[in-house]
Amino acid sequence: MYYNPNPDRYQKMEYRRCGHSGLKLPAISLGLWHNFGDDKPHHIKQQICRTAFDHGITHFDLANNYGPPPGSAELAFGRILKEDFAGLRDELIISSKAGYDMWPGPYGEWGSKKYLIASCDQSLKRMGLEYVDIFYSHRFDPETPLEETMQALDQIVRSGKALYIGISSYNSVRTKEAVSILKELGTPCLIHQPSYSMLNRWIEDDGLLDTLDEHGIGSIVFSPLAQGMLTTKYLNDIPEGSRAKEKKSFRPSFINADNLQKIKALNTIAERRGQTLAQMAIAWVLRKGRVTSALIGASKPEQVIDCVGAIANLDFSDVELEEINRYATDGGLNIWAKSAELDAGT
Ligand SMILES: NC(=O)c1ccc[n+]([C@@H]2O[C@H](COP(=O)([O-])OP(=O)(O)OC[C@H]3O[C@@H](n4cnc5c(N)ncnc54)[C@H](OP(=O)(O)O)[C@@H]3O)[C@@H](O)[C@H]2O)c1
Repeated sequence: MYYNPNPDRYQKMEYRRCGHSGLKLPAISLGLWHNFGDDKPHHIKQQICRTAFDHGITHFDLANNYGPPPGSAELAFGRILKEDFAGLRDELIISSKAGYDMWPGPYGEWGSKKYLIASCDQSLKRMGLEYVDIFYSHRFDPETPLEETMQALDQIVRSGKALYIGISSYNSVRTKEAVSILKELGTPCLIHQPSYSMLNRWIEDDGLLDTLDEHGIGSIVFSPLAQGMLTTKYLNDIPEGSRAKEKKSFRPSFINADNLQKIKALNTIAERRGQTLAQMAIAWVLRKGRVTSALIGASKPEQVIDCVGAIANLDFSDVELEEINRYATDGGLNIWAKSAELDAGT
């Protein structure tokens, strides 16, 4: 059925400036990592994207490898762009990334110029786009000179295939190095995409947030709901159809007595605030304006609506924050720590 976007879509969403750039991002963005592969029906993907856009979510985040199979999320989004969002390109911020395993052989992953340029071209083709708004290096490559990875990003912007560039899961030290190379090249780093949630606070300990503030770089934090753990869905059991049941990126060890105790306590605080736990988890990463956007995922349109409800109350009292701090401690969920070289002690 023909899609008529909600005329009030810009009324309730908050738009935040991305670092010291000219670009504003919605406080909540939608990622297509899970639930957009060939294993899920197209009409649900379509409803999730339409619902997001109807609620002011203008930013959709992809990567070359999202699926399964890799590439299929970009193909599905390309179809949505053509069939649902036709004529809306200038209202959308679309991102893609390259860094993880994408095709066989030595040129199908990590951070070489050969891989990044080819992958960007492939992503554009899959989505039917002339350019993406943001193109990311998906992870730091310890074997490729950082200069080469950054030169590739700079070249992608200069050739008109991306408007802005970003880096994902780089630690604070690597971020400083990347930012300085990019400055010299003349293409500033717009944004950093790290994982961050009440159960995964590495960007505070690593000093990454301070580095981003210092250099005027925006941040879009992924998995703010800890892949669904910071919702009420796992309080009593592991429901059918949930990500935990899929046993892909969600490890069975995540749901343990310690984490459940924290989630229950956090849920009580959320209830007192008149929010769902998902809403409080999103509001918390956005607190005090340090983070530009919370990058959520969704398997149903209703989840998007619930999450967007977070915008109604983004403020926390100092007493609330102190109480949350008691339970918002590391839950052993950072499966991206290796990319950030956190377990290498840098
Ligand atoms: N740069 C990187 O390396 C990287 C890595 C990971 C993710 N990302 C990006 O971040 C995006 C978000 O990641 P994520 O999907 O892990 O984020 P998330 O928001 O922490 O988790 C999303 C999951 O939470 C559940 N959920 C969402 N809203 C809910 C609600 N209101 N009530 C109950 N359950 C709810 C759903 O689980 P069910 O499916 O169980 O219903 C959903 O699939 C990705 O799509 C991707 O764009 C980037």
